[in-house]
Amino acid sequence: MSADENVPADAIEQQLARDMLGPYVDAPTAQLLLPQARQMPQIAWQIIRNALEQNPQARDDINCLTELLATGGQVANGINTDRLDTSAVAEPSEFSLKPAERLPLTDECHHYTGKHEVPWDIQKYFSQRYSIFSYYDSGVHMTDDAWFGVTPEPVANQIAYELSEDHYDPEKTILIDAFSGAGGNTIAFALSDRWNRIIAIERDPATLACAQHNAEIYGVEPGSVTWILGDSFEYLDQLVNNPERLHPDLRVDLQTTMVFASPPWGGPGYRTDEIFDLSTMQPYSLNQLHEAYKTMDHVLFLPRTSDIRQIAKLAPEGEKLEVIQYCAEGASKAMGVYIPAEKPPASSD
Ligand SMILES: C[S@@+](CC[C@H](N)C(=O)[O-])C[C@H]1O[C@@H](n2cnc3c(N)ncnc32)[C@H](O)[C@@H]1O
Repeated sequence: MSADENVPADAIEQQLARDMLGPYVDAPTAQLLLPQARQMPQIAWQIIRNALEQNPQARDDINCLTELLATGGQVANGINTDRLDTSAVAEPSEFSLKPAERLPLTDECHHYTGKHEVPWDIQKYFSQRYSIFSYYDSGVHMTDDAWFGVTPEPVANQIAYELSEDHYDPEKTILIDAFSGAGGNTIAFALSDRWNRIIAIERDPATLACAQHNAEIYGVEPGSVTWILGDSFEYLDQLVNNPERLHPDLRVDLQTTMVFASPPWGGPGYRTDEIFDLSTMQPYSLNQLHEAYKTMDHVLFLPRTSDIRQIAKLAPEGEKLEVIQYCAEGASKAMGVYIPAEKPPASSD
């Protein structure tokens, strides 16, 4: 094969790596590695991104990055850290995304047993631990960040019930959980026994390890969830536009698949505004989420004060949306928005 024939494939691999690196793409160490994109599995870029996110020195210093990846045991994930500074060679990967292995718990995954161990900003959530995970004492693990976003078990069970065959289109048999976090919703969906397949995506390896571990604690059957370590927008984009780039186990029929999305709720006004402007939600706005999922039925799990007028605009022509406020202890905790798939444009015949 001539060098010219290689150009488009390299460009695709590099673009995928750039997307995965996000804001760290311009870091000198990232730039050094990008030409190796063709030889590296997609998962490597997620791990490199996490290392760059956590340690600013790793953005400039290749030895520091190499050390971080080596101490994090990333060799097992296909990054050959011995050779990272000259040629980041790893197992070549035919597919951009593939099912994740069972990831090991890391130092970032904790099972706190007493308040004295818990960082101050999580203490409020720790005191609610049994309503978040009733099996908490069986060894539930969470990253510190996951405490802020996890869906409490009664709410997760209620959503799973809302989507049960008696209440929702039984022709939908496959569920994509786009932001799996520590597993709150994924576990409830899996235990509902309603889905032929569940695909759960999480981009942070430590959080995904917690979700897999927590699912085991809850007795979720091994194999009933296909986990993906990666970017759910990339997954959905490829599922809709380039399914052949995905590992065969990740290709599903769009007609029978629906998406559940509980994204991060960052943004200037989420905690303070009477009505939360969903166009300012960070890092993903309402429209960005809807654009990614609109070819399938989807449920968005949003802040309770979300602007209902912005949501109403997402209703397909002539249809109404169902919006449910999920309450606990007399107060709403979140809003669930049930959005049918956009109808394909009518053919001209
Ligand atoms: C609000 S939490 C989800 C909580 C989850 N439903 C639970 O009950 O544990 C959002 C999660 O999405 C992850 N995340 C953010 N952006 C992502 C992306 N583009 N693809 C996949 N996961 C992402 C974050 O790391 C975080 O763990």
